[in-house]
Amino acid sequence: MYGKEFEDEIERVESRFPPERKRAALMLALHAVQGVKGHVPDEAVEWLALRYDTSPADILGVVSFYTMFHETHPGKHVIWLCRTFSCQLMGSGRVMEAFEEALGCQAGDVAEGGEFGLRWMECLAACDKAPCALVDDDMYEDLSPESVGLVIDKIRQGGGGGRIVAEGGSPRLLPLQVPAPAGDAGIPRKAGR
Ligand code: FES
Repeated sequence: MYGKEFEDEIERVESRFPPERKRAALMLALHAVQGVKGHVPDEAVEWLALRYDTSPADILGVVSFYTMFHETHPGKHVIWLCRTFSCQLMGSGRVMEAFEEALGCQAGDVAEGGEFGLRWMECLAACDKAPCALVDDDMYEDLSPESVGLVIDKIRQGGGGGRIVAEGGSPRLLPLQVPAPAGDAGIPRKAGR
């Protein structure tokens, strides 16, 4: 369908399941499609329906149920901004408005040229760093409306995530601190361990 590498990947994920339960690989197959195309196009829906002996509507039901699958291309870099309680209370609505204005598109849409997509996301499990966003597997924390330009520039430069701090009234984007493993953090251990 999308070349040998893709077909090898489909066979690899299907090999995890008994032949009579090949359809159990559907979620993994959808990830493989999306890894190649960036979304799940109609041709892939038809192809998977035939492969798993089901209907295109059945495949589309799975695609539309999970937010991580896209029926249309979501943009090269998708900015997933959290809107759950902590982030909402800390101003994620105003941060989204600032992204919308900077990128010229609304939440749920793709910016002109397809470079960026803007989406709402539920809790990203970084509530103490609210408001925060996930982009290309990188976290951006303590966001503010004034900081969205820094985030967009960072993504264009290759990403990597970061935390916004205000210095002298101006936002700065600092690298994220990765916590040391508990064993290296000075936590006392019991004798004999
Ligand atoms: S509420 Fe936004 S990360 Fe939890």
